[in-house]
Amino acid sequence: MTVTVRDKLWWKQAVVYQIYPASFCDSNGDGIGDLPGIISKLDYIASLGVDVIWICPMYDSPQVDMGYDISNYEDVYRPYGTVQDMETLINETHARGMRIMLDLVINHTSDQHSWFKESRASKDSPKRDWYIWRPAKYSPSGERLPPNNWRSNFGGGSAWEWDEQTQEYYLHLFATEQPDLNWENHETRKAIYASSMEFWLARGVDGFRVDTVNMYSKPPTLPDAPIVDPETPYQPAGMIYCNGPRMHEFLTEMNLILEKYGAITVGELPCTPDTQRVLRYVSAKAKQLNMVFQFDVVDVGMGKTHKFATRPKNYTLPDFKAAIDLTQALIRGTDGWSTVFLENHDQARSVSRFTDDRPEYRVRGAKLLALMEACLSGTQYVYQGQEIGLVNVPKESYPVDNYLDIDSSLYYNMVKERHGADNKAELDKAFDAIQHLARDHARVPIPWNGKTKYGGFSEAAEKAGKELQEPWMKPHPLAGEINVASQLHDPDSVLAFWRKMLRFRREHADLLVYGDFKDLRPEDKDLFVFVKEPAHGGDRVLVVLNFTTEEKAWEVPSPAALGVSEVRELVPIMCTHPGKTRVGQLAAFEGQVYLVR
Ligand code: NOJ
Repeated sequence: MTVTVRDKLWWKQAVVYQIYPASFCDSNGDGIGDLPGIISKLDYIASLGVDVIWICPMYDSPQVDMGYDISNYEDVYRPYGTVQDMETLINETHARGMRIMLDLVINHTSDQHSWFKESRASKDSPKRDWYIWRPAKYSPSGERLPPNNWRSNFGGGSAWEWDEQTQEYYLHLFATEQPDLNWENHETRKAIYASSMEFWLARGVDGFRVDTVNMYSKPPTLPDAPIVDPETPYQPAGMIYCNGPRMHEFLTEMNLILEKYGAITVGELPCTPDTQRVLRYVSAKAKQLNMVFQFDVVDVGMGKTHKFATRPKNYTLPDFKAAIDLTQALIRGTDGWSTVFLENHDQARSVSRFTDDRPEYRVRGAKLLALMEACLSGTQYVYQGQEIGLVNVPKESYPVDNYLDIDSSLYYNMVKERHGADNKAELDKAFDAIQHLARDHARVPIPWNGKTKYGGFSEAAEKAGKELQEPWMKPHPLAGEINVASQLHDPDSVLAFWRKMLRFRREHADLLVYGDFKDLRPEDKDLFVFVKEPAHGGDRVLVVLNFTTEEKAWEVPSPAALGVSEVRELVPIMCTHPGKTRVGQLAAFEGQVYLVR
């Protein structure tokens, strides 16, 4: 497909700010973030240059997977607030000229959802078929086995759970307490749409981030996954259960509803490395999803058999650049659209993963990544805390027991089981990986100021003289050094730089948001040098980024590489080190942007 004119639409040039309710801002001092806390920070969010907020699940939930296990789509987890608070949040967001997206988690529910309770009650329950139940298999020696060898996404166990009462297994691609819904059942789908989508669309939400969007349709025979980890009976099976045969039929059905409300969607698309396959989700003509989150970039450096089966920074800069090139390629000559993100609630902090989080480098690293992201095409996503350059919690001051996420704790327990609880070397290796990659890093409460109790997470309650509970997760040990208050009025701060970058991105949207990306030195292990070209002739932008802790020289690329007949002028238009820019030289973690004329 050749597309000569790229449609310009509001959501393509929007900046979306992601909020994790438990950890954003605690208004009442109970140690858990809440909706009034979010409302109190809307002016701050708007001041960053944000157009849309995305709220991670705030629905009623037993919180086995922090709200991604929903027990009632039509209610709010009480410690966060009420449906009425949500209505206030929606109105207050709109009043500031921003839009609001919710998380749509409909591959599975909680096992505490009334649908599942009915389903598991008996084999004759009218809702039995709303989830995926299968009889056991038996080995030649008569041992009871799950229906196939799929591994759950958390830990190393089976994706099937045996139900004593009804003597069948149910499927849960994630935690045992997150049974997968059966999308083959038309009645189930109708109930999902009404309860999870229309209930909130009718209350004014503007769109959804769609959780694990490509897992709804399972291959009918539920075949075994190939064996990649011979040490265990359970194998990663994402390549088998993602992108099943009825996926596009289901999305077309969902779209009939979304269209009525003009709602936008961004789907989470794991296990889909093939660009043509991704395009079937995001091609404008296909009317499936507006955009997706591909995993290529955030998966860089992760282990092959398990994400934590790796060591810190187990990748090269060319790996990182190749992954970025893949996501940028999605819009090249197509009618598809891409996203730009390095962080979310499932990822460790980008400064720690992709630059250097030692005190002398972390501000530079954060600015370098902000500059890079602002120059990439697609809709830009910023995760809470990223705008102040938060880094991973340090290993020395944040013991492994402080990590609460099911993904981290199940892995650590699995290592203990496999290698013994006294195997210090293996446990330390696992802790190193967790300290580098755990989702917990993104979930540590936001330090609003470094001075008051718990990093200021509950500052309003403290000011009101309330007694404060300790936050649900231990505060960030570096809250005194990295916090919002100390950056708010500092023109050299990471926060000020992000604001500047988002403005810059908007001013040069034709090239930065919509342009075509070309990596000029894919093999370079130290520098990232790319151009952004307009769809039709005109100026280009050259971006040079130094990903090392040393000073580096660079050469102006040839006119041919830049895609012009001659370079008349190279105009510096942005940099991470103002006042110090020298063409051909880059300080440690310096980034420069030039207009090529
Ligand atoms: C993806 C979500 O982002 C993650 O946090 C969650 O654990 C799984 N899907 C299951 O819903």
